[in-house]
Amino acid sequence: MDFIGSHILSIDQFERADIDHIFSVARMMEPYAHRHQVTKVLDGAILGNMFFEPSTRTRVSFGCAFNLLGGEVRETTGFENSALAKGESLYDTARVLSGYSDVIAMRHPASGSVAEFASASRVPVINGGDGANEHPTQALLDLYTIEKELKSSGRSLDGLRIGMIGDLKHGRTVHSLAKLLCCYKNINLQLVSPDALQMPGELVELLSSTGHQVTISDNLASSIAHVDIVYSTRIQEERFVSQQEADLYRGKFRLNQSVYTKHCEPNTVIMHPLPRDSRAEANELDSDLNENPNLAIFRQTDNGVVLRMALFALVLDVVNLVDKSAKPVNWYTGSRFQ
Ligand code: CP
Repeated sequence: MDFIGSHILSIDQFERADIDHIFSVARMMEPYAHRHQVTKVLDGAILGNMFFEPSTRTRVSFGCAFNLLGGEVRETTGFENSALAKGESLYDTARVLSGYSDVIAMRHPASGSVAEFASASRVPVINGGDGANEHPTQALLDLYTIEKELKSSGRSLDGLRIGMIGDLKHGRTVHSLAKLLCCYKNINLQLVSPDALQMPGELVELLSSTGHQVTISDNLASSIAHVDIVYSTRIQEERFVSQQEADLYRGKFRLNQSVYTKHCEPNTVIMHPLPRDSRAEANELDSDLNENPNLAIFRQTDNGVVLRMALFALVLDVVNLVDKSAKPVNWYTGSRFQ
């Protein structure tokens, strides 16, 4: 695809060559994200960071990624702080905000809303999550992480064995990741959820029709026994009709060190898009895994910055200018990225 000036709304837009291209630009961004070098390639540019639903890592990492390229960030968080609360349409909001920004990142609770917004925007719009539909940048950073994690043990994305666990009905990250995996070969997917929270049928059909092996189960132990990646997810309680209904599924599939030791292969990588629900009654990914070297959840969040830097550089057409504007850092950088 031609990235320049494009909206990034869905994984449907990408072919494997596009993903390879994004990942090669992301690798180029690592010295900047890791504070070995500084670039001001987007000096003077403005990101409109519009989050109409709660977020920690997506919102902040979009902002950090833009800042690390030298640009500035203007934010809106929550409906109550925007004119949407006064009945303004997405069309008007998009027309206004695209006059103030060079690129917009947006999250909204309604499926399809970011695409609707993008259709009225005069600048590229990147989907930061639209309801239960998609979260394409999360899927890209997840796959970037998976590729890096597997490389160290000589494994690759083709032939990947992955178990996705939890609320696969409402979890937009697993929807986008499942679509992304269709670009690769011989994927073995174990989909583990309560019956009522299974992966949407059209995504299962897409995976099967593209030649991948899909197993649907509600048995955690057998599903995580022979996988490279365990990808745990939270029950998306905000998408349920009532709290009472969400509570039925809370704490259904818990992964902790003892479950991991008993059932997983020794080099199985543990992932989660975060936030994990750490309340005792949920605790889908126990903090007793925090020192497990195969826990990749915070490497995922670090990779979110490089991946989003890559997307900004691609859509704003500055990839070839980044290294030309590079300078060494001259402040204490700590040991965060060693
Ligand atoms: N993974 C993710 O989307 O996290 P936030 O909701 O904190 O952005």
